[in-house]
Amino acid sequence: MGGRVEPFRAIAISQLARALEAAGRSVVHMEFGQPSTPAPAAALAAVREGLERDPPGYWESLPLRGRIARHYRDSYEVAVGPARIILTCGASPALLLAMLSRFRPGDRIAFARPGYIAYRNTAIAAHLQPVEIGCGPESRYQLTAAAIAALDPAPAGVILASPANPTGTIIEPDELAAIARVCQQRGIVLLSDEIYHGLHYTRPAHSVLQYAPDAMVVNSYSKYYSMVDWRLGWLLVPEAHVDTARAYAGNLFLTPPSPSQQAALAAMDCIAELEGHRATYARNRQLLLDALPSLGLERIAPPDGAFYIWADVSHLTTDSLEFCTRMLEQTGVALAPGVDFDPVDGHHFIRFSFAPATAQVEEALRRLQPWFAAQPRIR
Ligand SMILES: Cc1ncc(COP(=O)(O)O)c(C=O)c1O
Repeated sequence: MGGRVEPFRAIAISQLARALEAAGRSVVHMEFGQPSTPAPAAALAAVREGLERDPPGYWESLPLRGRIARHYRDSYEVAVGPARIILTCGASPALLLAMLSRFRPGDRIAFARPGYIAYRNTAIAAHLQPVEIGCGPESRYQLTAAAIAALDPAPAGVILASPANPTGTIIEPDELAAIARVCQQRGIVLLSDEIYHGLHYTRPAHSVLQYAPDAMVVNSYSKYYSMVDWRLGWLLVPEAHVDTARAYAGNLFLTPPSPSQQAALAAMDCIAELEGHRATYARNRQLLLDALPSLGLERIAPPDGAFYIWADVSHLTTDSLEFCTRMLEQTGVALAPGVDFDPVDGHHFIRFSFAPATAQVEEALRRLQPWFAAQPRIR
């Protein structure tokens, strides 16, 4: 029997939001990290053209793997052979593939708390033992080399996310290098979730591969490339593990949809358009950073990347799910409750997503100003 996997509470919020909309209410959706920007125009054109030709069937695009390899060289100056890249239906299956193909049941796998809900639940589903490392504002909610060095016994693996969900914070290059060193010394496998790379507002995130060439990396077209619907991503594994990981991928997933692969190849050359999207998110981020203090939300770590703000609301609630539900019912603004990302302290945190259109972010702030002003303080 599988371990207990918790549901994503933001899905319940989203379902309530849809029900309110069906009843005629207007809702601003800030509960998911879902780009409001469209897939690049050239990606759609490539798919239309591809559909006119014979479909390739089960297929993994060699040109796309080559293009991803070039991306590592161009963006991070690291050489990666295309054979090390396994295309998957998004980062989610890539995470599962990494966990199943590289670890054994019972292995301990550590990651930051708060963190993306699926790290804990995918690990449980893969019969691994999640080890959550509580990370607070002093490390901007990120893992540190010292925290990993202090784990006793050493875990089999560590998952990094930089920029992270739900905080958007980036691990500084020196710290990333120190994490790589401590993992190498202790024989810990590094798995880096780089899904938010490209979406940065202060400085670009470094890839773990710049410091740990043997790390595994997960990435996806869902965020920077605005292609959630196309369900495409990749897992990058070290040379020595390619055959095993490919055997798992072939049996579990076969190949991702060929139209998505054709679209992704074109998308990787649409940088001007994608940078325009990033500018929209940068504007949205600034709107929130300017307005949140006037809502009484001052305990936040300004995000370096992704499209999230993690806000401490301990002066207002000890039940973030109830808080978000009430906020949605009373204002029509949907946010994610912190408990999704942190089962211990998340009861008094909420996560804003600034992925919606700028006008929607402005509308949310108009609705939230009076609502927050009317909330009684509990401490
Ligand atoms: C940190 C992180 N990793 C992985 C995923 C999964 O993304 P996808 O399966 O759409 O590529 C998400 C989705 O929001 C995420 O936030």
